[in-house]
Amino acid sequence: MEKDAVEATSLLIEKIGTLAVVPPGPLAGSQMRDVTLIHEAALLIRDGRIAWFGPAAEAPLDEGTHVFSAGGGLVIPGLIDPHTHIPFAGDRSAEFIRRVGGESYLSIMQAGGGIRVTTQAVRDASADDLVVKNLPRLQRMLELGVTRVECKSGYGLAPEHELKQLEAIRELDRQQPIDLEATYLGAHALPAEFEGRPDEFIDTIGNEQLLAEITRRGLARFCDVFCDKGAFSVEQARRILQRAAAAGLRPKIHADELAQIGATRLAGEMRAVSADHLECIDDAGIAALLEAGTIAVVLPGTSFFLGIAHCNARRLIEAGLPVALATDYNPGSCMIESLPLIMNIACCQLRLTPREVLTACTANAAAALDIQQRAGAIEVGYEADLVVLDAPTLDAWFYAPGRPRVRAVFKAGHLVYRKVEHAR
Ligand code: NIG
Ligand code: FE
Repeated sequence: MEKDAVEATSLLIEKIGTLAVVPPGPLAGSQMRDVTLIHEAALLIRDGRIAWFGPAAEAPLDEGTHVFSAGGGLVIPGLIDPHTHIPFAGDRSAEFIRRVGGESYLSIMQAGGGIRVTTQAVRDASADDLVVKNLPRLQRMLELGVTRVECKSGYGLAPEHELKQLEAIRELDRQQPIDLEATYLGAHALPAEFEGRPDEFIDTIGNEQLLAEITRRGLARFCDVFCDKGAFSVEQARRILQRAAAAGLRPKIHADELAQIGATRLAGEMRAVSADHLECIDDAGIAALLEAGTIAVVLPGTSFFLGIAHCNARRLIEAGLPVALATDYNPGSCMIESLPLIMNIACCQLRLTPREVLTACTANAAAALDIQQRAGAIEVGYEADLVVLDAPTLDAWFYAPGRPRVRAVFKAGHLVYRKVEHAR
């Protein structure tokens, strides 16, 4: 569906059973539970932004306002997925089956599998192929209530193919309603042709002209690096992130996923926008993130999919960190595109409450993308990205995982998805 599917400058969403009022992020530690629930509510949208919300009985009734009934359902801010590896190509189901049989992600990677397999497929694909393959993924995400997605390059691993991936992201952003935020992840893995020469690779993929071109053409806002055992060292990660920051790309880090090598401390040192994964985070890493105001992005779909221990997100919240959640959607470590499924894993297995999970996927996810001033909250003046769910309350929604609940999705005040109701 197109971005301007339904025109209405003033729209009242009425008959809201529960409005989950998430305040603007970042919400740190116990503040993550500061979601107010208004029952029997209404919300007014004007010019794509939230103009008013409150008890239905007090709703302003302007002449000419269109009305949309939420049918007694739950209304939440549009979900934000702040860490995915869209766009990708190829298939690694054979690796998945090997891992189910007991092999580890790291051993498959060290034997030449893993990211390099996807790199071959992405190098073989044109920018147009990448768009065609990844558009349906985003369309399915929209139907799950996701209105904003971070997308990374990182499977080209050579300047021309990295640029091709970033161009595909820009085209994907144009072709469907979800807003995409692009991240340059040139240092995702060492390509075969640089075997034994990681420093030279960092100099190639992190050269000043390339980084300047990415910023000049507005192809990305962030630079990410996979800093872990079997990937890049802290020194290598620091080098590319410093150069990227000088070119205007804000740092993000894949940190402490497979082993503890000090990546989260580097995130603090670099004042990264976010540190992502954190399965092996230590106390020094937590202290570094707190000091820097970095968002902790937890990816429980990856630990679920890889069969490794989850990140202890409860510990991060108790320590006072702002925690966000994301899918990490990628063909190797997490082929899960459903943010609602991730939310259910976070609730049932990481022991986050529904309010904490909702904050993690809205206000704090917006903060992980540095757009918390305008997105991710129910607040007057904020972008009217909203989801109407077929559940009377927040708790009822979380109580029944796996059930498709999205009735309607609004993006900047426009109805961009509506579930077809079948006659019973
Ligand atoms: O976030 N950890 C590094 N990168 C991805 C996996 C990418 C892949 O296996 O294709 C991740 O888990
Ligand atoms: Fe990732």
